[in-house]
Amino acid sequence: MIWIEEVSSYEGKEVEIHGWLHNRRSSGKIHFLTIRDGTGIIQGVILRDNVSSDTFKLADRISQESSIIVRGKVREDKRAPGGYELEINGILLVHSAEPYPISKKSHGIDFLLSHRHLWLRSRRQYAILKVRGEVILAIHEFFDSRGFTRFDAPILTPSACEGTTTLFEVPYFDSKVYLSQSGQLYAEAGCMALGKVYTFGPTFRAEKSKTRRHLTEFWQIEPEVAYANLDDIMKLAEDFVTYIIQRVVERRKEELNILERDTKPLELIKTPFPRITYQQAIDLLNKQNETSKTQWGEDFGAPQEAYISQQFKLPVLIHRYPAECKAFYMKRDPEDSHLSLCVDMLAPEGYGEIIGGSQREDDLATLEQRLQEFNLPKEPHEWYLDLRRYGSVPHSGFGLGLERLLAWICKSHHIREMIPFPRTIDRSSP
Ligand code: 4AD
Ligand code: MG
Repeated sequence: MIWIEEVSSYEGKEVEIHGWLHNRRSSGKIHFLTIRDGTGIIQGVILRDNVSSDTFKLADRISQESSIIVRGKVREDKRAPGGYELEINGILLVHSAEPYPISKKSHGIDFLLSHRHLWLRSRRQYAILKVRGEVILAIHEFFDSRGFTRFDAPILTPSACEGTTTLFEVPYFDSKVYLSQSGQLYAEAGCMALGKVYTFGPTFRAEKSKTRRHLTEFWQIEPEVAYANLDDIMKLAEDFVTYIIQRVVERRKEELNILERDTKPLELIKTPFPRITYQQAIDLLNKQNETSKTQWGEDFGAPQEAYISQQFKLPVLIHRYPAECKAFYMKRDPEDSHLSLCVDMLAPEGYGEIIGGSQREDDLATLEQRLQEFNLPKEPHEWYLDLRRYGSVPHSGFGLGLERLLAWICKSHHIREMIPFPRTIDRSSP
């Protein structure tokens, strides 16, 4: 048995392929079966004269997505999808599928999402998941090559990292805990032990908004580096994104092609990325729209981010937002205490924020005061404050949203196709 992805090394040879029937066409004396096995698709040809009449009849009635084992000779054929064809001489029906709910005609998104477990088998979803797999590998390799240790943060947590309005509460014996919004606070403990760490895990936000870029469960990658300042992690973030994009463009051409993704904008991605301050971003927005001005102090919403990111061919780093619209743990700019030493990276082509990060407040008394200002309880943060009691150092990090990055790479309208089983405000199944 061989996998379809290996077919090019079997030219002229007899092989066996284990897969599913993707598609079927017939014309009297000849049947064409498109077979997929999860590594690729191949067209199989069955000539009436080459097989028994039982096999020929069987080929005419196999239903879409039936599992089959086919045997035959591999033949190069430039016109065939994938460049090879299989001259089939034997078929074993493993399981005859019931009438398949997903056909070639277009289906509504709700129908497709309800059949997500089957929708995953279609070409576009296959390509997205291949790209996702490649990005995940690239992430691990990037950090490994730079001496980072993967550090797993807990999912059940006693407190909020990113504000109390998007917390999922979970009963925990006689008390309650929350699903983690971010592994950051734990990564901070990790970097004090291991120097350079990154988390890679699911994070949760009870986002009540229905948007194209919010999931309630998404995967986040969060590096945290001891002794690093804001500049250091801006540099890390642009190196990181560049590495991932170059790697995907190089290794996932075929999948990007299936997605009809124009790869030219991706091929342009290289460091350094443009950097602007929040103030410069405000000026850019207000120059464009004289009538509805963005007020200083507001965080940017999707339309503002889309406008800013369309002004650049590369991802843009916006740094030093007003402290009032950002998180409690961010260090203030010593040159202007109204600002946080933070950065957002907006992806080009209108995609908006894919990364958020900052230098962390490392002074005990200041951090205690911030907890008060943000109305956060002190007790569940005592362990976090300890990091400022025992050998506190400057440190910084950021979080990349995996599905946001993928939506840009795949140029997908909506983030929900970027994860095998999306969770949103109105969907938690299948
Ligand atoms: O900007 P955020 O909220 O930052 C943090 O969570 C920090 N603790 C990260 C850090 O410094 N270690 O989230 C980081 C990224 C966003 O830029 C976005 O890409 C993604 O996570 N993200 C979401 N992705 C999908 N659905 C959501 N609801 C998301 N919320 C954030
Ligand atoms: Mg953010």
